[in-house]
Amino acid sequence: SSAWKHASASMLGKNLKWRANFPLRIWYGMDPFDFFFACKEKYGDVFTFILLGRRVTVCLGTKGNEFILNGKLKDVNAEEIYTGLTTPVFGEGVVYDCPNAKLMEQKKFVKFGLTMEAFQSYVDLISSETQSFVAKGKPFHGDSGTIDIVPAMAELTIYTASRSLQGPEVRAKFDSTFADLYHDLDMGFSPINFMLSWFPLPHNRKRDIAQKKMADTYMEIIKARRAAGGKRDKGEEDMIWNLMACVYKDGTPVPDKEVAHMMIALLMAGQHSSSSTSSWILLRLATRPDIQEELLDEQKRVLGEDLPPLTYDNLQKLTLNAKVVKETLRIHAPIHSILRKVKSPLTIVANTPEATNTYQIPTTHTLMSAPGVTSREPEFFPEPMKWEPHRWDEGHPLAYTRLGTDQEEFEDYGYGMISKGASSPYLPFGAGRHRCIGEQFAYVQLGTVLATMVRHVKFRQIEGKQLVPTDYSSLFSRPMAPAVVEFEKRKSVKEKN
Ligand code: HEM
Repeated sequence: SSAWKHASASMLGKNLKWRANFPLRIWYGMDPFDFFFACKEKYGDVFTFILLGRRVTVCLGTKGNEFILNGKLKDVNAEEIYTGLTTPVFGEGVVYDCPNAKLMEQKKFVKFGLTMEAFQSYVDLISSETQSFVAKGKPFHGDSGTIDIVPAMAELTIYTASRSLQGPEVRAKFDSTFADLYHDLDMGFSPINFMLSWFPLPHNRKRDIAQKKMADTYMEIIKARRAAGGKRDKGEEDMIWNLMACVYKDGTPVPDKEVAHMMIALLMAGQHSSSSTSSWILLRLATRPDIQEELLDEQKRVLGEDLPPLTYDNLQKLTLNAKVVKETLRIHAPIHSILRKVKSPLTIVANTPEATNTYQIPTTHTLMSAPGVTSREPEFFPEPMKWEPHRWDEGHPLAYTRLGTDQEEFEDYGYGMISKGASSPYLPFGAGRHRCIGEQFAYVQLGTVLATMVRHVKFRQIEGKQLVPTDYSSLFSRPMAPAVVEFEKRKSVKEKN
């Protein structure tokens, strides 16, 4: 039977019988996971629905992840889906506004710029930004009180990313003009822009002005660096310096404008994903004071009672710290749906509840992958909705069932050997040629923020309150606002103030 048969399960209500069987809350846009699991139960791993006028075929399960994320270039395409949304925000000539081969080169430049030396300098910068945010930042007013986690983490993520990856000039501008520009630019990611990104709506006009101003600012920074001799000081590691020195395979140095646009792309890509994840980390920790104490004990045990300054090397030794990040990304990965355009007719075999079916997927369809579904399957993660960092320990009753046995496969898509890894049920960073290159940076940033926070603050759920639900209304999921918890600074910080 063809996948199109299931398109009658339209979200637009063509098939009322289908709708009548399910409450409205399972609408994809409101709770994609409820929707995915309900459809999976009824139709199996492959089904089609209509989203914003497009026929979208969802392929779930580890096979579905593999099918879409490792799809061949001639079969599936990302840029045709994303460019309308991303090009006005990032600017021309980068990411999805260029052929895939050029994106692969750009990813190589970024990946190779994230060197060990760079990470070593970033840990220090990120922990000092975090400490000063806890000591002096507005959201942490007083020695104890309540804090609205989502805006607080958005602010801290901008400071930490700009101070490290983006460089000192950009960090300084976030104390003044950049915050407003960033906000205007970010409006370009409103979901309505999947259809109307070219339309001169007020938020799109503001987006275009902000894009130009931001790109000009980056280009001025580049010019000023060149005018000052074009040499970085020792220990001065940031992505602008790295990209300024990069040359495409055909011998063309990366033009300043493209450096600027890539820097905007990195700012936007990192901001939402990291700030959503760090928010969830703190919200989850607020429900588990025992884990907060365990994290602090781990630091004392592994690094020493006097808690020496964090470094890249000692961060690697904090295994529970990393597991907290890992477990948070299992349930709260910020990107819940990954889209591709179908370029040639495709065939996929999948099980329905009754039979094994072969589906023909025509080129009029869009593919949707949702690896967050496999990371919520009880088959792999017992009691999957329970947040438990220790399930990544061997022998834990809720341990990940394939712990240590996931076969990693590597491939070079033009930007170094990277994990194809789509056979794993755990893929918060995607897989294949479009896989994230920010994973290591994200782990350094999130791990450093977490380890620093644990030293200086305790978080607690407000009595009688529950963990907030997820807000799926934007392209990146995040905790539903307001997400308020209690904080209490530890003695060490109070004394320093
Ligand atoms: C791609 C997740 C942080 C830069 C991706 C993809 C995912 C992802 C799922 C694949 C998208 C697709 O296949 O269409 C995450 C998560 C992050 C994170 C969960 C943090 C917790 C970052 C950071 C940066 C970054 C910090 C920049 C420094 C990129 C880039 C791509 C990408 C450049 C490639 C897009 C492509 O090739 O099409 N990320 N990301 N990400 N990410 Fe991340």
